[in-house]
Amino acid sequence: MNASVEKPGGRMAVAAGILAAFAVAGVGLVAFTELSTRERIAANERAYLLRALNEVVPAEAHDNDMFSDTVHVSDEELLGTPEPVTVFRAFSGAQPAAVILTPIAPDGYSGTIRLLVGIAVDGRLTGVRVTSHRETPGLGDGIEAARSDWILGFNGRSLDDPPRARWTVRRDGGDFDQFTGATITPRAVVKAVRNALLYFEKNGQALFDPRPENSGAGQ
Ligand SMILES: Cc1cc2nc3c(=O)[nH]c(=O)nc-3n(C[C@H](O)[C@H](O)[C@H](O)COP(=O)(O)O)c2cc1C
Repeated sequence: MNASVEKPGGRMAVAAGILAAFAVAGVGLVAFTELSTRERIAANERAYLLRALNEVVPAEAHDNDMFSDTVHVSDEELLGTPEPVTVFRAFSGAQPAAVILTPIAPDGYSGTIRLLVGIAVDGRLTGVRVTSHRETPGLGDGIEAARSDWILGFNGRSLDDPPRARWTVRRDGGDFDQFTGATITPRAVVKAVRNALLYFEKNGQALFDPRPENSGAGQ
């Protein structure tokens, strides 16, 4: 008898055990990384949206948490999608101050363009921002506030300023500039903003109705 001779079955069991331990540790590490990455992405998205919301309706115009005071509405014709879109609501005390609609311009050059459209209770635009698009860099991307001041041209405008018939780009007889060599993108955005104003004209008051869909003021 030789005590130092190991049985082949024993060595295999040890190897299998080590392998299993590494597999479990690997899966755990991947799951942990995935979870913390997802949380970081969600936190970044929330911070980005909050910043954009505050650009569209300034903080001094309301005292509620717009981010968590939302309702959802659908109107394919005026909001550009059959899906429900989020409406953020701004209140000053119990008084309605503004809403931010999140319509889609379906007819950009390279597909859909997502917008935040801030509208004060008197029907004037408080601000507009593009939150996502796939327009061509150097041609259509002038709709981004980071690239040009074009989007700021909506500030303070309403359905009567300019008159409704001039709510399009200059090329089509309207009041809004197109870009050099790129008319399709700004035309799509002007139309979506105009439609958002029409939606507000039709449904604005109801948007401020207390609806306990989320927390927030006005309930
Ligand atoms: C590769 C390529 C990319 C383009 N990207 C855009 C775009 O992002 N937005 C846009 O409005 N027009 C874009 N255009 C131009 C449109 O095809 C179209 O000619 C233009 O919008 C019409 O504007 P105009 O009448 O001022 O020329 C692009 C054209 C090409 C060839």
